[in-house]
Amino acid sequence: MSIQPAIDGRARPWWESAVIYQIYPRSFQDSDRDGVGDIEGIRGRLDYIAGLGVDAIWLSPIFPSPMADFGYDVSDYCAVDPIFGTLDDIERLIAQAHERGLRLLLDFVPNHSSTVHPWFAESRSSRDNPKRDWYIWRDGAPGGGPPNNWTSDMGGPAWEWDHATGQYYLHTFLTEQADLNWRNPEVRAAMTDVLRFWFDRGVDGFRIDVLWHCIKAEDLPDNPANPDFVPGMGEKFLVLQHHSANQPEIHELAAAFRMLADSYGERLLVGEICLPVDELMRYYGSVDAPGVHLPFNFQLFEARWDAATLAAIIAAYETALPPEGWPNWVLGSHDAPRLAGRIGDLQARVAAMLLLTLRGTPTLYQGDELGIGRVSIPPERIRDPQDLRQPGLGLGRDAARTPMAWNDSVYAGFSEVEPWLPLHGSWPVHNVESEDRDPASMLTLYRRLLAVRRRHASLRTGGFRLVPSDEGVLQYERWDADERLLIALNMRSETRRLFLPDGAAIADVLASTQALRTLDGSLAPDEGLVLRIENA
Ligand code: GLC
Repeated sequence: MSIQPAIDGRARPWWESAVIYQIYPRSFQDSDRDGVGDIEGIRGRLDYIAGLGVDAIWLSPIFPSPMADFGYDVSDYCAVDPIFGTLDDIERLIAQAHERGLRLLLDFVPNHSSTVHPWFAESRSSRDNPKRDWYIWRDGAPGGGPPNNWTSDMGGPAWEWDHATGQYYLHTFLTEQADLNWRNPEVRAAMTDVLRFWFDRGVDGFRIDVLWHCIKAEDLPDNPANPDFVPGMGEKFLVLQHHSANQPEIHELAAAFRMLADSYGERLLVGEICLPVDELMRYYGSVDAPGVHLPFNFQLFEARWDAATLAAIIAAYETALPPEGWPNWVLGSHDAPRLAGRIGDLQARVAAMLLLTLRGTPTLYQGDELGIGRVSIPPERIRDPQDLRQPGLGLGRDAARTPMAWNDSVYAGFSEVEPWLPLHGSWPVHNVESEDRDPASMLTLYRRLLAVRRRHASLRTGGFRLVPSDEGVLQYERWDADERLLIALNMRSETRRLFLPDGAAIADVLASTQALRTLDGSLAPDEGLVLRIENA
């Protein structure tokens, strides 16, 4: 498999060369001493973000919300929750991010609103309310009980009984998150206004929450039982989501979002879509009806961490991409356990090098640049509703949401008061200030890799090919008209051989996950290298 460099001569959109940095606003920086992060806190850290060398920020939801799902239960799409600040604050953040050359993406949560949203209050007020059909209401099954067998992703049935009007409403997530009915044109129009509201205020795009869930099969048939379900998996896996997600009409909706975004110029849409690769690819849409620019590629989250598996994943993904589709890679998020906790500190450094040298747009999650590993949350501090509703299954997401550690003062410089979630245990070491001083820290490595990526166009828009390597090593080349780079990642804790392509010699070591050394044809255990090579 060999992918040629992106065609010269055609202007490429900014996001193809960009690195996206995800901020979980509750946990980035508290500025008003309530133990919860806020927009002013983020604004005060813009220099840190710009200094990292990333190009765009994506903020998890900052909209008014009762916070049942920490902002993914929106009660007003066109305002800012007081806990995070004001509309003025976000406008100032957008302006000051732009001054530093940083783009800003917000999180659009279209599948569901909070049940506190005035739309839902109206919808639930009576069966003949004009907004009744804005949500998905159904009678119970003939023998009693919910209308069908769909389960909520947060556990339990996906239906909640509403006593006052004698019907059930659908909630793919918490009972506090009612699914909107995207088959209703009024919902589409209202949500288009939401997108316009923010585009008009200068946001550079959106990450679209659970895009693949937004449309359900028209007559809501039962989902097939999941033959692979075993207790302990979480009740969402009781059934296969054949009818409750990923319906054909979703692509028409994605295309409509895209058309709107494109009408504002270069605005980016990133879709959260958790599906197998061939289904994921469909979210790029077609040449005539393009879908989202970047359907999130989450494959590194759970991939077995060995060279052969990763090579197969990369090859399959690159091969499946449609001709106009731009790749992307993600290592962490507010929903997934920290990768370093699973693969260890040294391989987390290799993973950083992988993320920032693969072809495509990388998304980096706050705190991963500090090398935060396994985090344990004392039971009495658990806040994630997914964990609280299905205790003991290991579904908790709090470990990925602990406050950012800035220094070794009390509460790590995140806040002056006890934060809403505890800090990660290693914060006295894994914090920005102490990693800043340490040339061997993860932060220093991320900065160096981001700088190399900035300096070398071949890493951003160059070609990509996997090349032969020693067992346990992943090697690939990136190149363009001006240069040729070889990336060699030793995924074993043993010395391995470095394979140089025939007739090539090392010209320069651009980055190493370890201390720079004289190269001798080998890779040290767990070592990753970015090399410039040329004809010998
Ligand atoms: C997405 C979010 C997650 C949230 C869910 C429901 O997966 O990333 O945090 O709980 O959607 O909105």
